[in-house]
Amino acid sequence: MPDHELVTIERFILRQEKLHGGATGELSDLLYDIALAAKVIARQVRAAGLIDVLGAAGNRNVQGEDQQKLDVIANDAFKDTVGNGGRVVVMVSEEDDGPVQATNAEPGKYVLLYDPLDGSSNIDVNVSIGTIFSIHRRVSSKGPGTMEDCLQAGRKQVAAGYVLYGPSTMLVYTAGHGVHAFTLDPNIGEFLLTREDLRIPARGKYYSINESYWTSWVDGGYRKVVDAFKGVTGKGEERNARYIGSLVADFHRNMLTGGVFMYPAEAKAPKGKLRLLYESAPLAFVAEQAGGAATDGSKPILDIVPRSLHERSPLVIGSKDDVEFITRTLASGH
Ligand code: AHG
Ligand code: MN
Ligand code: MN
Repeated sequence: MPDHELVTIERFILRQEKLHGGATGELSDLLYDIALAAKVIARQVRAAGLIDVLGAAGNRNVQGEDQQKLDVIANDAFKDTVGNGGRVVVMVSEEDDGPVQATNAEPGKYVLLYDPLDGSSNIDVNVSIGTIFSIHRRVSSKGPGTMEDCLQAGRKQVAAGYVLYGPSTMLVYTAGHGVHAFTLDPNIGEFLLTREDLRIPARGKYYSINESYWTSWVDGGYRKVVDAFKGVTGKGEERNARYIGSLVADFHRNMLTGGVFMYPAEAKAPKGKLRLLYESAPLAFVAEQAGGAATDGSKPILDIVPRSLHERSPLVIGSKDDVEFITRTLASGH
């Protein structure tokens, strides 16, 4: 790519489509629709505080969490773009109880599962937040999307990625041929290619975990892991601590610098807090495509066959050597 060339996400996706023959262009169109939804959400996030998008929406979602206004706005942005874009047959959102069928006459062949706004507790304090998305091919042959279409193992994802609304807005995705990052230029309204074939360092600089759950982690092995990262149990595994409280922001930093994020099962969340279908599985696909790893503490996230839409799983994700260290430490008993 010549130095001066501006590569928009649209142009990049088209190139990727030509590189990996047999593509019909429908996945490319779906990725455009997701990029459009991201621009709509970015516009609202940037104006938060100036327009009435902060604070609670006044109702609880299926997770039992107080929905924030921006959760609802982001969810609607996906329905207004992807929902009737003709590429999907059904959508699964963190903010909706059940699958939402596509609204257009001719449904597409894809399934979109997404967390429209990740890190909601950080919205009102102006800290980075994100969006996470996962794309599967429908397995049913015709008619409305089915639960079978929605409950597929992460290994079968066609594409996945996230948007980070930080100092700049970035969209990072993989379609199974590496991980690529785009930065939104708000002056021209385009996501421009800024990192091609992103690779996560094998060993991390940071560890990310909410240590306030120290006493309630179900698997005590995490206390051994954190002690090692803090240098309490001898030298060699020390890391620096970073925990933002937005999974997308912690994950993205670890992708660039190397690092590992953990959300173990704990007393009040015996299966962990993070949701498999639209948080752990899509980020696991991105992590593996960048040379990293993601497990539930023992087995790869991508091999887990989901049984329900909003099921949760413990998550260990990031630099390959760090995930392997944690897996060994947890398996060594405590
Ligand atoms: P969401 O806002 O979509 O519910 O996700 C929040 C998640 C994740 O982004 C973050 O890592 C985690 O919740 C933080 O949870 P704790 O506050 O329990 O650490
Ligand atoms: Mn989330
Ligand atoms: Mn969310």
